[in-house]
Amino acid sequence: MGESKYVPGLEGVVACQTRLSMVDGARGRLVIGGYDVDQLAERASFEEACTLLWRGALPAKEEVPGIRKELAALRALRPETLDIIRTARNAPPIDALRMACATLSLDVSNPNDLSGAGDLAMAKRLAARFPTVVAAHSRLRQGLDPIPPRPELSMAENFLYMVFGEKPHPAAAKALDTYWVTVIDHGMNASTFTSRVIASTRSDMVSAVTGGVGALKGPLHGGAPGPVLDMLVDIQSADRAEDWLKKELAAGRRIMGFGHRVYKVRDPRAEVLARAAREMAGADLHNKKLYDLACAVEQIALRVLEEHKPGRNLKTNVEFYTALVLQSIGLSPDQFVAMFACGRVGGWCAHVMEQHGQDRLIRPQSEYTGPIHETTRA
Ligand code: COA
Repeated sequence: MGESKYVPGLEGVVACQTRLSMVDGARGRLVIGGYDVDQLAERASFEEACTLLWRGALPAKEEVPGIRKELAALRALRPETLDIIRTARNAPPIDALRMACATLSLDVSNPNDLSGAGDLAMAKRLAARFPTVVAAHSRLRQGLDPIPPRPELSMAENFLYMVFGEKPHPAAAKALDTYWVTVIDHGMNASTFTSRVIASTRSDMVSAVTGGVGALKGPLHGGAPGPVLDMLVDIQSADRAEDWLKKELAAGRRIMGFGHRVYKVRDPRAEVLARAAREMAGADLHNKKLYDLACAVEQIALRVLEEHKPGRNLKTNVEFYTALVLQSIGLSPDQFVAMFACGRVGGWCAHVMEQHGQDRLIRPQSEYTGPIHETTRA
């Protein structure tokens, strides 16, 4: 093997082969399971997108009700999981989700079954239960009882029902479904890589996904949309945006919702989610003023960032419009990253299955920069 060179942040390093998604950063293209992200978001529900990743093809129309029914039957949480969420009710939602996630193998006879069938069964449980965990936490932290899931509702409808206690407006359920499909998978992002590294040791899916939740939490990955909303609220009106942004940059802070390790043009998911936010504004479910402000701030930020880092191509990423979509369906900023996890879990599970199939330990090397002490050997 030739001598390999340390690459900070593993930038540009190809860490695995995958059939799950392709990110073309130069052209701004994201292909998930063979479909461009905008097409997939238009034609598939979250349940169908999970099926696409887990078995390699979208389900036929007549299969969809059965798939939905099977996932819906797995939504309810065990009392032990609810106890953990109750104990963690004052923790941020993403931390409560991480703690609860680790308990989701409790009712499986062999959680260490890494066969295709074992992994698939676990993937269905995880995807079905993540929204129930986030909804239960949302209720418990308000001093309210969790609302049991309703199996006849879609995953997105049921989540909103479990949070708000009533069947949601169809446009809100559609926006959430679009969001989850849009973020379901995205190449070798940090949390997916984390899950794959764990799976590569022949560890189980719940362990791998729990690690993925931990990696997603950070503001450089999934934790950005909360701060995006805070930024818009703070800016208040478009005429204040330029000053606000310049002050942030002068203070050495990053503008959330902009820049990407791979995309050097606008993130294609931003396009899909901007449309979803616009539709919510059109359906009068969204604060139209906030949407208009976001559009104006986006343009000003792109100009200010180009002046700040000429030629770096710091463009709008997925998190900018995520903030608007999730706010429009009534969620609070500290819940946004947990909502991201409810979508990305479909991709994490698919990557764990793929990694178990490849069965190759991921074990890179490090470059030692410490001292070497001369010792006298007897
Ligand atoms: N605001 C201000 N400056 C930014 C920036 C942002 N949003 N994103 C990158 N930069 C700057 C960096 O500070 C760096 O400057 P330097 O070379 O003078 O140190 C330069 O642009 C290049 O960025 P780089 O550090 O190479 O990018 P990266 O690949 O490490 O980072 C992100 C990618 C996403 C982590 C980064 O763009 C970022 O922090 N964005 C804000 C958080 C966010 O929106 N995260 C969600 C990602 S989907």
